[in-house]
Amino acid sequence: MKGVVLAGGTGSRLFPLTKVTNKHLLPIGEQPMIYYPIQKLIGAGIKEILIVTGTDHMGDVVNLLGSGKDFGCRFTYKVQDEAGGIAQALGLAENFAGGDPVTVILGDNIFEQNLAATVKNYSGNGAQIMIKQVQDPERYGVAELQGDKILSIEEKPVNPKSNFAVTGIYMYDADVYEVIRTLKPSGRGELEITDVNNYYIQKGLMTYSRMEGWWTDAGTHESYRTANELVAPSTGKGS
Ligand code: DAU
Repeated sequence: MKGVVLAGGTGSRLFPLTKVTNKHLLPIGEQPMIYYPIQKLIGAGIKEILIVTGTDHMGDVVNLLGSGKDFGCRFTYKVQDEAGGIAQALGLAENFAGGDPVTVILGDNIFEQNLAATVKNYSGNGAQIMIKQVQDPERYGVAELQGDKILSIEEKPVNPKSNFAVTGIYMYDADVYEVIRTLKPSGRGELEITDVNNYYIQKGLMTYSRMEGWWTDAGTHESYRTANELVAPSTGKGS
């Protein structure tokens, strides 16, 4: 199992904080945002980690993270030329993965649960996602559930079919790159990870688990503030 942290995109919803830097370099509590997904991969025993980011701030990201020796892991870096979507960014991991399954974390997802057991439970075939009940499902990919099965995922639905958000923690087998090659840009001009996930659902190759503990993205001013509160040592909730 290898790890991928996706840290590209424009960060437009956090403007002007992201006017001169990358969203994932902003502080959350006492650490840069990108440290959190990296620590989650390392906590799951994953030591080979690809960082994907755009051209603008790749230099800063490399300056911050280095080779990985300070973290006890090995970093590889890949440039995403334009913010063409999460699935496009993941497509850049193909050579790095070299046929191995990957655990992918969106660089703005901050959460409590240790991933070791979840990664261990993943068979390495098909895909696996983590879902979480939220108050504002229309902001996310939303899972339609029937008993133990996921029937479909809708990206930012106006009328969500459930309040289960699909979190930005995904596991994929090596077929994912072929799936990404078949995708067409969505209405927002991006290759959508939700389209990748729906492909696996339709093939009967998707499993999921429920995320325990707190979870948030940090991509809007409100959720960025929430993330800072959740990781603050004074809340007693840990980092
Ligand atoms: O946080 C979970 C949600 O993340 C999921 O529920 C949605 O299904 C999924 O589409 C995504 O939604 P967002 O609209 O919040 O994604 P956003 O565009 O904010 O991108 C999230 C991260 O993905 C971002 O922090 C960096 C990475 N990314 C994004 C884009 C568009 C890239 O690396 N490259 C990109 O081109």
